[in-house]
Amino acid sequence: MSSHSDLAQMRPRRFSAQGPLKGRIRVPGDKSISHRSIMLGALAVGETRVTGLLEGEDVLSTAAAMRAMGATIERQANGDWLVAGVGVGGLLQPTGALDMGNSGTSTRLLMGLVASHPITACFVGDASLSKRPMGRVIDPLSQTGARFTAYPGGRLPLIVEGAATPVPLTYRLPVASAQVKSAVLLAGLNTPGVTTVIEPIPTRDHSERMLRGFGADLSVEIDSDGARVIRLSGEAELKPQTITVPGDPSSAAFFVVAALIVPGSDLVIENVGLNPTRAALFDVLRLMGGSIEELDRRDVGGEPVADLRVRASTLTGIDVDPAVVPSMVDEFPVLFVAAAHAQGRTVTRGLEELRVKESDRITVMRVALEQAGARVQETEDGLIIDGTGGEGLRGANNQPVATHLDHRIAMSMAVAGLASQGGVEVDDTRPITTSFPVFEQLIASATAA
Ligand code: S3P
Repeated sequence: MSSHSDLAQMRPRRFSAQGPLKGRIRVPGDKSISHRSIMLGALAVGETRVTGLLEGEDVLSTAAAMRAMGATIERQANGDWLVAGVGVGGLLQPTGALDMGNSGTSTRLLMGLVASHPITACFVGDASLSKRPMGRVIDPLSQTGARFTAYPGGRLPLIVEGAATPVPLTYRLPVASAQVKSAVLLAGLNTPGVTTVIEPIPTRDHSERMLRGFGADLSVEIDSDGARVIRLSGEAELKPQTITVPGDPSSAAFFVVAALIVPGSDLVIENVGLNPTRAALFDVLRLMGGSIEELDRRDVGGEPVADLRVRASTLTGIDVDPAVVPSMVDEFPVLFVAAAHAQGRTVTRGLEELRVKESDRITVMRVALEQAGARVQETEDGLIIDGTGGEGLRGANNQPVATHLDHRIAMSMAVAGLASQGGVEVDDTRPITTSFPVFEQLIASATAA
């Protein structure tokens, strides 16, 4: 938050102990899958129906951009979304700038789509998004023939001039990033020939699953070094689909941790996506002693899903294996909160990517947790946390914790507040609507049961 006008609009809130979390709640649709349903629906020929779409601001930014490039996207009275696509190659020149709000996923994936269409698009975003590095997608996409003019440092605002005759890429990912992988694959959709992405460290595979679901010719092979080699045939014809979006494990994460650390809790969280490239937090919390039971494991929209029964547990600190980082990259802020309540020390490493999320999540969480009374040390690539051994943190009431336009910081510190002795004041709850608009409502219903 920088300017006075921003400060005036901030929505602070104090989160304090309200007793155990009980009963059943249902988390909204997965953000990553929701973005991709809209994008691929908009590129299919015909009408795609999406049930359970996350109606968060980030996904609405994607929908607005796809509308600006020609797709028809409408919400039905029953909550389903209908997307009438323009076909691969059919994106139209938008007449104004595409406002990406807070959403890195919308920006990077759409940069990929625009790169192989003969159109020009200008991307703008909020103060948080405008600090985030776009060089990681500009570098590979420039090799297709697309041209980029970015703000210094490879930031937004930026203009993409798509290539009229794009060249297919073979690209080895230098960072473990599903956004970069997806940007290159999406550019490959309207490119003649085969686009190849080599992924040494696996990241979330929703793009691959969904591209196949829409009928693209996509294969995945493991090479002799153990890297995933993804090949996509270009000039694809996508067929419209009926999609049911599973619940977002990254949203469920806040309630899982809250139920583990608030004494007396026994909560069922329904409809949680458990794609193995996303669900490592639940394994880590179990290793710490958390009671998380999977009920009614099933498939929803080609993704594994279960209801999770979570009971308050005594947690013990651990060394978190850096190999799991990509499968829980968004869940570290709330894991830090769990660690602050555990017995003993939790060590996390390999988290350098956290510094370029909606905020620098290593420093911002270190500062916020210290303010609430936790014992935390910051290293270059992680945090070392000495837990209270089950007691709630003292709390942070005199001065609100700063969330820096980062939804996951706001929700993590809200969870810390629910388990705290004196409450935690969060400086701004507005960013929560980017990914989890019903978060505060669900807290109220889980603590009222
Ligand atoms: C996402 C990928 C991740 C994640 C983000 C969503 C996606 O980012 O942090 O919230 O939908 O592809 P990176 O790919 O940059 O790690």
